[in-house]
Amino acid sequence: MKRVLILYSTVDGQTRHIAERLQARLEAQEHQVTVADLARGGALLAEADAVIIGASIRYGKFRPALFDFIRRHQGHLERLPSAFFSVNLVARKANKNTPDTNPYMTKFAKLSPWQPNLLGVFAGKLDYPAYGFWDKQVIRFIMWITKGPTAPDAVVEYTDWGQVELFADRCADL
Ligand SMILES: Cc1cc2nc3c(=O)[nH]c(=O)nc-3n(C[C@H](O)[C@H](O)[C@H](O)COP(=O)(O)O)c2cc1C
Repeated sequence: MKRVLILYSTVDGQTRHIAERLQARLEAQEHQVTVADLARGGALLAEADAVIIGASIRYGKFRPALFDFIRRHQGHLERLPSAFFSVNLVARKANKNTPDTNPYMTKFAKLSPWQPNLLGVFAGKLDYPAYGFWDKQVIRFIMWITKGPTAPDAVVEYTDWGQVELFADRCADL
């Protein structure tokens, strides 16, 4: 049994949902799992045998708090078996849904001084009714360019939960 810490950086909650699915899968394999917001992560690292961090993308970027956390805790992160996953809508496309083909993972590899043992990419959720006016217009425009849904009331969860569970199993083997 391992003590696994899963930290998430989310705005609308999908990265947290994925973290919770990872938790359920790992707990079913008898691991002891703590899921927390990245902001609370520093205090929890000392109790972990392995760490998984997940972060979503907004307007092409991870939030700065992600890299602040990594820089602050780099030494500790490097001593633990570790995984990182990104959540974004570009990953809904079959040719952009792996760590090698997703542009944000390439970006992560360049920007992060911590290189985790395992990487994952998951498509997120599109939820126009939850967005503010301007965000909604911008995302609809991006979806129009990339041939996605543009109906103002569209809600589409692209996350492949089977892939999430497979990732949990690979994390268990770290
Ligand atoms: C304002 C806004 C900007 C976004 N920008 C991007 C983007 O640049 N690239 C992308 O692939 N997905 C983008 N997304 C999609 C999110 O990454 C996706 O909805 C994800 O599920 C959000 O995860 P979260 O709920 O954990 O924050 C954006 C979503 C919103 C609301």
